[in-house]
Amino acid sequence: MDLELKGKVALVTGAGQGVGRGIATILAQEGVQVAVNDFFGERAAKVANEIESSGGSACGVQADVKDLAQVRAMVETVNRTLGPVDILVNNAGVPIILRTGEAKRTVFVESDLPFWKEQIELNYYGCLNCTHAVLESMIERKGGKIISIISDAGRIGEAYMAVYSGAKAGVLAFSKALAKEVGRHNINVNCIAMGATAHEGIKDFLNPDATPEEDELLRKMLKAYPIGRGLGRIGRPKDAGNAVAFLASPKACFITGQCLSVNGGFSMA
Ligand SMILES: NC(=O)c1ccc[n+]([C@@H]2O[C@H](COP(=O)([O-])OP(=O)(O)OC[C@H]3O[C@@H](n4cnc5c(N)ncnc54)[C@H](O)[C@@H]3O)[C@@H](O)[C@H]2O)c1
Repeated sequence: MDLELKGKVALVTGAGQGVGRGIATILAQEGVQVAVNDFFGERAAKVANEIESSGGSACGVQADVKDLAQVRAMVETVNRTLGPVDILVNNAGVPIILRTGEAKRTVFVESDLPFWKEQIELNYYGCLNCTHAVLESMIERKGGKIISIISDAGRIGEAYMAVYSGAKAGVLAFSKALAKEVGRHNINVNCIAMGATAHEGIKDFLNPDATPEEDELLRKMLKAYPIGRGLGRIGRPKDAGNAVAFLASPKACFITGQCLSVNGGFSMA
């Protein structure tokens, strides 16, 4: 199926590794020109180079999504380099699994204000900043797609990730409200709720092509998350990429204000 995405311009935040890298790669395979953002410029450049080496079109753009001035400057750069942003993917966020491969467990009563701020600034303000920076141009051009990567934690809550869950829930409510506000401008605003997703950023030795059964990290994650009730496997970045490509395409033009769970059946509510 042709997703009719050729020549579109996408900005994917936090795409220097992991889920965002998977999204950027799949969009590029669909003919999208991808601006690969990351806090670490070298990561962004590496992924952009990978895409270009495979015949796609991309550029790396360093910016901290928590900083509105940096975000505005980044959007200007993308505008000059690739053109105005048609598709924004708010992906930069704190992952469920830390680089140790263990589930992040933060007991709320033991957490403090700096930690809450860090979580909310990245997961919530990062989304607001990037969305605000591209929206005016989308309204002028009478169209656009805004897709934010949240987590099942933001839909159903996850113990020991209370602040993260709240920030992701905020992104979901914001997206629904904004979808109502900008629908008349032909702008679709949706979320994708990922379940536990394994990728190269979680463990250096993780082979991205390994099957879940082969990899020790994946076994750990499988133990931590009762996903056996669904498809019985951990997610891969390309699972996120495929869902984003669909929601970004004109095929999904009648879908807005929704949250698509890409979680292998971890939660079905
Ligand atoms: N991996 C999972 O199991 C999982 C599950 C559910 C949801 N998610 C969501 O998917 C998204 C990506 O997660 P991931 O596992 O790939 O994370 P990751 O930490 O492996 O990668 C995120 C990338 O974002 C970049 N980044 C961090 N802060 C930034 C900032 N302020 N500005 C710009 N870039 C920044 C990092 O440098 C990194 O390259 C997040 O929104 C996360 O909440 C992940």
